[in-house]
Amino acid sequence: MTEIPEHLLKRSKDRRSAMGGGSADEPASSAPAKAAAAAPATPARAEAPKPVAAPAPKPDPAYVRAAKERRKIPFWAMLPLSLLPVWAWMYVRSVQDHPEKVEGPRAVGEVIYGKCAGCHGAAGGGGAGRQLSNEEVLKTFPAIEDQARWMEFGTEKYKAAGIAIYGNPNREGGVHNTGSYGVMPGWKGELTDAEILAVTCYVRYDIGGADPASTTYAAEYEKWCNAESPEYAALKEGKTFGDPEFAAIGTEPKAGSDKALTMGG
Ligand code: HEC
Repeated sequence: MTEIPEHLLKRSKDRRSAMGGGSADEPASSAPAKAAAAAPATPARAEAPKPVAAPAPKPDPAYVRAAKERRKIPFWAMLPLSLLPVWAWMYVRSVQDHPEKVEGPRAVGEVIYGKCAGCHGAAGGGGAGRQLSNEEVLKTFPAIEDQARWMEFGTEKYKAAGIAIYGNPNREGGVHNTGSYGVMPGWKGELTDAEILAVTCYVRYDIGGADPASTTYAAEYEKWCNAESPEYAALKEGKTFGDPEFAAIGTEPKAGSDKALTMGG
């Protein structure tokens, strides 16, 4: 402890007695602290003990009092709060993926196309299977019936039937020889006839780029792929490609025809 010069001790004692503080019975040990407090200029003690204030009972500050007196939930908040569970219920329902209503051949076909995307690409760009996008599939099958039939049987059944070219024999950009690109599985048995039509519609109108409003495709679209398609409805109700009205598709591999031929029949 640093020595406090005598004159400072004296000065602080004088000051204290002038302020009315008792100093006579002050223990000697606290004298330097008091001195430091009285003469802060003294660099004697870096950490002088703080003078202890007498603990007076403090009144609550205004904001504490307000908090204590305030009603915990304002009455106007009661209605919105009581509706919270309803809102939460509606919110959860809206984000849960509830099974979307899938209707119409194109919407149904989009789901089925999941089986095809691995070979043909999600957007039909091609891969292990031929490119379908950019009207490629439409060049091969100007008529939807020929494409649906190809979907039924695939490469091997066409080959077995001795069909060298599937699809349009006058194909723009060159014919597609059966098996020239690989082996396309047939889907009869794995898919219902309604599903085969649905995925065929999806491939033509959503992947291939056929325009349902164009003069080339409007009639085909109305008949086969529109949401109210009578042919799709008939297949959904249990008709099959074996029924006479579906003879253009049929139940045997057949050489593809040019659209003109099919439409003429
Ligand atoms: C295992 C791979 C594979 C799967 C799965 C597959 N395909 Fe194919 N697809 C092919 C191959 C390979 C060819 C070419 C066949 C050939 O050369 O004989 C082809 C050809 C086609 C063609 C004719 C394209 C053209 O212009 O010549 C269409 C249309 C087609 N596939 C549609 C589908 C659809 C729709 C599905 C799903 C239901 C599907 N494919 C599933 C491999 C596949």
